[in-house]
Amino acid sequence: MRIVFLGAPGSGKGTQAEKLMTKYDVPHISTGDLLRAAVADGTELGKKAKTAMDAGELVSDDIVIGMIRERLKDDDAQKGFILDGFPRSHAQAAALDEMLAQEARPLEKAVHLAVDNDEIMSRLMARKRADDNEETIRHRLKVYEDQTHPVINYYAAQAKLATVTGIGNMDEIFGRIEQAIGV
Ligand code: AP5
Repeated sequence: MRIVFLGAPGSGKGTQAEKLMTKYDVPHISTGDLLRAAVADGTELGKKAKTAMDAGELVSDDIVIGMIRERLKDDDAQKGFILDGFPRSHAQAAALDEMLAQEARPLEKAVHLAVDNDEIMSRLMARKRADDNEETIRHRLKVYEDQTHPVINYYAAQAKLATVTGIGNMDEIFGRIEQAIGV
């Protein structure tokens, strides 16, 4: 299984990626989780990322592409991966394709979880992560529309896009995803 999850902040990418990992034993790789770990550890990379994350901006492409390049070399990722929160820009999507082409293991599917902004706002306001305050959520949604939403078209053009309604019961959504990726 080699898939990416696309979708706005709070669309359920992390939740559904965890469920896939548990059932199919394929690593769930979240750039948000990797960056938060680097911030918590106080690494140089974490220091560079923190300002952008606090503001709801994207961390620079070179940082996240480098992080994913290294993570995909790990043993557990040789059997496949579920990427969550990456790619988030056209440059990241193109870099991922290039990395995978070098290893002759192309991406199979890009799953887009479609959720409206009112639902997202109510989910994230209820969660209370450091970047889950109203102003930052609104900015993250704008950044998503401007920079990440175009990635959906990138995968549509490759006929790899599967759009799944991300509203409703989590198990039902999971069933829709399994159907969409054909497992
Ligand atoms: P990241 O950690 O990726 O945050 P995000 O995209 O804002 O996504 P979330 O984790 O908020 O949402 P999710 O879609 O995973 O939903 P979840 O399952 O958690 O990124 C954080 C920051 O890091 C970015 O702003 C950026 O600065 C930086 N960054 C990360 N990747 C980057 C990249 N590639 N390039 C540059 N910068 C990058 O669910 C959300 C909530 O909803 C939870 O409380 C959950 O329980 C609930 N929920 C889930 N499903 C349902 C459901 N069906 N019904 C009701 N509630 C639900």
